[in-house]
Amino acid sequence: MTAHTLAQPRHFLSLQDFSAETLRQILDLAAELKVRLRRGDRPQLLTDKVLAMIFERESTRTRVSFDVGMRQLGGQTLMLTGAEMQLAREETLADTARVMSRYVDAIMIRILDNDDLLELAGASSVPVINGLTRRTHPCQVMADIMTYEEHRGPIGEAKVAWVGDSNNVLASWVHASKLFGNSLSIACPDEFGPDQALLADIRGAGANVTLGEDPHQAVRAADLVITDTWVSMGDTDPGLRRKVLKPYRVDTNLMARANGGALFMHCLPAHRGDEVTDEVIDGPQSVVFDEAENRLHAQKAILCWVFGIDTV
Ligand code: CP
Ligand code: NVA
Repeated sequence: MTAHTLAQPRHFLSLQDFSAETLRQILDLAAELKVRLRRGDRPQLLTDKVLAMIFERESTRTRVSFDVGMRQLGGQTLMLTGAEMQLAREETLADTARVMSRYVDAIMIRILDNDDLLELAGASSVPVINGLTRRTHPCQVMADIMTYEEHRGPIGEAKVAWVGDSNNVLASWVHASKLFGNSLSIACPDEFGPDQALLADIRGAGANVTLGEDPHQAVRAADLVITDTWVSMGDTDPGLRRKVLKPYRVDTNLMARANGGALFMHCLPAHRGDEVTDEVIDGPQSVVFDEAENRLHAQKAILCWVFGIDTV
C-alpha cells in the first residue's frame, strides 16, 4: 500500500481533470479490489474514515455502492439530503463544505448544478467526489470502461457509439474518449443535442469523437452501443423528448447494424420500451448489470485514490 500526505485534497469532479495514466491506475486498483473481494479478501484501507454523502436527487446505484464500498474498505458513511440540512434554509454550499471539512474525511455529492459542485469543492479541505451533476457523471463512466475491458479488452481500441439524448453520461464519455483514444460516434437529434459546453468538449476531443443525427450511421461497426434515459433528472419536457427521441430507441434492428459481438450498456435506471427494448437489455449482448456492479469496484478505487492510496 502506498499512501501520501496530501497538501491539497484530491477531488474527483470530472474526468477532464485527469491524465489517462491516473485513470488507468484507478482502474487497475478497481480490478484488483474486485478480484480480492471475490476471494473474500476485504483490505481495510479506510478504517476510521467517514464519507458524507449528500443527495440532492434520487439514487439507487450511487447511494448503495458508495455506502457498501466504504464499509467493505473499513470506513463509515453518513447519508444526507439537502432537504434535511441547512442547505434547505439557504446556508451556502461553501459554508457547508467548510463546516463538513471539520467533521468528515470526504464528501460525495449528487447535485444537478455543476457550479454548485465546484463551489462545494472549492471551499472543502477534504476530497469531494462527483456523484452526478447535469453536466457529468464521471464515476459511471469509470465503471463503464472497467466493464468494457473485462469483456473485450483495451478501451483505446474500441469503437463506441452513443445513441439518444445528449446528457451527463455522454459528456463523461467524451472526456474519457479524449484520454483513452477510443472512437466515439454520437447520434443525437438536433433538438436534444449537446449544449455549448459539451460541443466545445467534443470539438476539443479531436477526430475520434464525431457527432451526427443518424443512429444507424453511429452504430455501424461499433464494439459498444450505449444509451441512457431520454428524460434525465432536471429535464422538464418528457412528452416532447419521448416523441423526438423515438427513432433513437435501441432495438434488435439497431444492434444488428453494430459488430456481431457488440456490447450494450445503459447506466440504469432504464425505461424499458422507451430508449431500449426488453429484447436488447435482457439479451446476450447486454452487460448492464455488470456495469452496475462495477460502480462498486470502481468507486472503491476512487475512494482509495482520493485518500492518497494509489496501489494495494
Ligand atoms: N446510474 C446511476 O447513477 O444510478 P443511480 O441514479 O441509481 O445512482
Ligand atoms: N442521465 C441520467 C443518469 C441517471 C443515473 C440522469 O441524469 O438522470
